[in-house]
Amino acid sequence: MGAVMKLILLGPPGAGKGTQAKLLSESYGIPQLSTGEMLRAAVKAGSEIGKKAKAVMDSGGLVSDDIVIGIISDRIAQPDCVSGFILDGFPRTLNQAAALDKLLASKKRALDAVISMSVHDEELVKRIDGRFTCATCGAGYHDKYHQTKKSGICDKCAGTTFTRRPDDNAETVRARLMVYYRETSPLIGYYFAKGKLSTIDGMAPIGDVTKALEAILSPFAKTHVKA
Ligand code: AP5
Repeated sequence: MGAVMKLILLGPPGAGKGTQAKLLSESYGIPQLSTGEMLRAAVKAGSEIGKKAKAVMDSGGLVSDDIVIGIISDRIAQPDCVSGFILDGFPRTLNQAAALDKLLASKKRALDAVISMSVHDEELVKRIDGRFTCATCGAGYHDKYHQTKKSGICDKCAGTTFTRRPDDNAETVRARLMVYYRETSPLIGYYFAKGKLSTIDGMAPIGDVTKALEAILSPFAKTHVKA
């Protein structure tokens, strides 16, 4: 069983999109579609897409629209997306947003909500600087804000190996922020004009942000279908 919900989490790097998308995915039973995670998997696998994406990602730039639109189009066609999905990190340009509209319209589907998570710039840099991830299950943590319960042991899978992303350094974070303001922030106006946009305070603690998201999503979460 899963909620019927097609959702975009919109926000700058470090806003908490991935953290919240994982929690919502678990509670609503719909997949998290993170283009960042898909691209990092392609880099790790050494695929053609991964080879093209690596240098761009390391510098904090955006991978070409053609590549990410292709990835998302294939992913949304998978059976687990039939009830819904949570887009995390896509769309990131007006061109990607227009392509998503076209893709959904061709399947006679529409977005239910776009939620913009706002966080101060200095806080974004702090969050990204302290982020680390379980190498086994991908659970996300932070040196200060979200530590593992037992030092060095993942809360979810008891893994003991953790990784830090190559683009999570102070210099690249500023480049990523610049790209966000130039290319992605216009999407806030785009979805407002379409009547889809809600905004939440992403500065609140993780549990409070989840509650704010759930309050917005409750009309969609009530409808359940067989997955
Ligand atoms: P991507 O992986 O999407 O990175 P991003 O957008 O920069 O977002 P982040 O993953 O850095 O942040 P987040 O908002 O998910 O924050 P998180 O929850 O981890 O993309 C990486 C790269 O791939 C891009 O730069 C680009 O090159 C490429 N790419 C991806 N998609 C693309 C696209 N569509 N088009 C073109 N290129 C694309 O939280 C951060 C930290 O803060 C964590 O440690 C967490 O524990 C902590 N935290 C979270 N919430 C809170 C809170 N409320 N209070 C305190 N701490 C918190």
